Amino acid sequence: SVLSGGGGNPGDGSADAWRAHVRSYVDASRRSRLGIPILYGTDAVHGHNNVIDATIFPHNIAMGATRDADLVRAVARASALETAATGARWSFAPCLAVPQDPRWGRTYEGFSQDPSLVATLGAAAVQGWHGDDLPATGVLACAKHYVGEGATVWGSAGGHRHPWIDWWDGWGADWQIDQGDVVIDEDELRRVHLRPFTAAVRAGALTVMACYCSWHGRRVHAHRYLLTDVLKGELGFDGFVVSDWMAIDQLHPDHATAVARALAAGVDMVMVPFDHRRFVATVVELVEQEHLPVERIDDAVARILRVKARIGLLDGRVDGRAEVRDEPPVPVEVVGCEEHRTLARTAVSASTVVLTDDGVLPIPDDATLLAVGEAIDDIGIGCGGWTISWEGAAGAVTTGRTILDGLRSRPGGVVAYDPHGAVGDVRADVGVVTIHELPYVEGGGDRADLSVPPDQIDVVARIRDRVDRLVVVVISGRPLLLGAVLEHADALVAGWLPGSQADGIADVLLGRVSCTGRLPVRWPRTEAQVSGSPTGSDDGDEAPPPLPVGHGLDLAPAAGPPDRPSPA
Ligand code: BGC
Ligand code: BGC
Repeated sequence: SVLSGGGGNPGDGSADAWRAHVRSYVDASRRSRLGIPILYGTDAVHGHNNVIDATIFPHNIAMGATRDADLVRAVARASALETAATGARWSFAPCLAVPQDPRWGRTYEGFSQDPSLVATLGAAAVQGWHGDDLPATGVLACAKHYVGEGATVWGSAGGHRHPWIDWWDGWGADWQIDQGDVVIDEDELRRVHLRPFTAAVRAGALTVMACYCSWHGRRVHAHRYLLTDVLKGELGFDGFVVSDWMAIDQLHPDHATAVARALAAGVDMVMVPFDHRRFVATVVELVEQEHLPVERIDDAVARILRVKARIGLLDGRVDGRAEVRDEPPVPVEVVGCEEHRTLARTAVSASTVVLTDDGVLPIPDDATLLAVGEAIDDIGIGCGGWTISWEGAAGAVTTGRTILDGLRSRPGGVVAYDPHGAVGDVRADVGVVTIHELPYVEGGGDRADLSVPPDQIDVVARIRDRVDRLVVVVISGRPLLLGAVLEHADALVAGWLPGSQADGIADVLLGRVSCTGRLPVRWPRTEAQVSGSPTGSDDGDEAPPPLPVGHGLDLAPAAGPPDRPSPA
């Protein structure tokens, strides 16, 4: 197998460049001694997100807010078609994390803090990636990261730094929780964090990625009980386990020892980004020197071949037919097509959660409108991490439509717009202001303080004086501590990380569609509630309780029938 890591983009990053690139690897593998095609893998975690002009769907936390398994399945199917169109047949998705602490930089990669919702939506995602006909248009899903990562403890990542990894220098030094330690007991591990994996395996998941995290100090990548006894034994998983990027290097400073531990524990395919020759030579040596039974290698290889057979890569060999598929099974034109962008826009609307509303929403068509905020017209901020590059970036990183585009399409448009609130003397009936987090990824997003930065609060306060009614939209991968924003806003809306079709948020604000989104995670309102007791009782009686999972106000569309039925 060959992978592109986050931002590991061939050529100009276009779908055509991807297609030619993947094709060259597949062709080369067909000319190899055994002629077994490689499996090309990529992190298509919210659409085929490394590819310029692909449809970028909302991140998983937003999909969790929809609570709609059919929608998640449809989004995964569309993502699979865009991925297959470039020749890649394996996506490192869905992430089945059940994030418990919003300070974690990967919170947005999980659907919800509620394990049953993650199980339902994760299973739907697997079905969508695979489709009805795996060999024809399916892309292998990869249930990740097995298991427990949503429970890692703040501050425990530092204790797991590995001084022998040069790669860490300068990088990851300030990671606090990502890749850290899980200290819950087995009952809770199973009830909360294993549950979505059980559902994914039942739904047909054929690949699982092991987690960087450790359980009571033992790295999952070397955990035979979790990888072999529970996953392959108890759950009956007959696909293969892939290790995470360089994760085996965290097991031991000696490469051979690290490889032996991972393979013996049950890892079947090892993700080795930089030196695969050393890895291959090491495996051969381990077997020759009888440090690793060859039966374990045979089992790993059999698992990988079985999966390749199921997705049709071995067609023409297994059943004796001579014909081999030459082209990716899906035309390249599906990448970023209108149909998928419309689906993304629908998903964005369905994920939008109205947290509070004093009767300002939906915004009447005859109201004058001011639009402000750095995120309101910024595709990159709305896409977040895992978009074109690994970390993501603000700015016009790819094509799509913004909240501002959506607002401008209303009859009266907007009377003024400025990202930083420099709107001169203009006054309006209603102001829409975004506050945001800048893109981040993995431990780079671990953040002790989830407060909205003061400069963003200043913008909100300034616009408050220029409008009769103020709507604040939060563009973030997790709940933020809103502080003074709460006093200024007549309506507060969580827009999450919507992706390339953020105009779906405007559709909700303007009442073009019905609004049914619900919080997939609890929204703390005080510092102590971020990591402290789930009820916020640490704060004393004065403090407002956190907004619970499931919170969200329904809004009927302003006119005409809703385009999506609201759940009963
Ligand atoms: C991440 C995985 C990802 C892999 C390949 C790792 O750093 O943890 O989620 O699939 O890289 O890019
Ligand atoms: C790669 C990612 C990978 C990360 C490791 C980056 O350089 O592009 O794919 O996940 O390193 O955490």
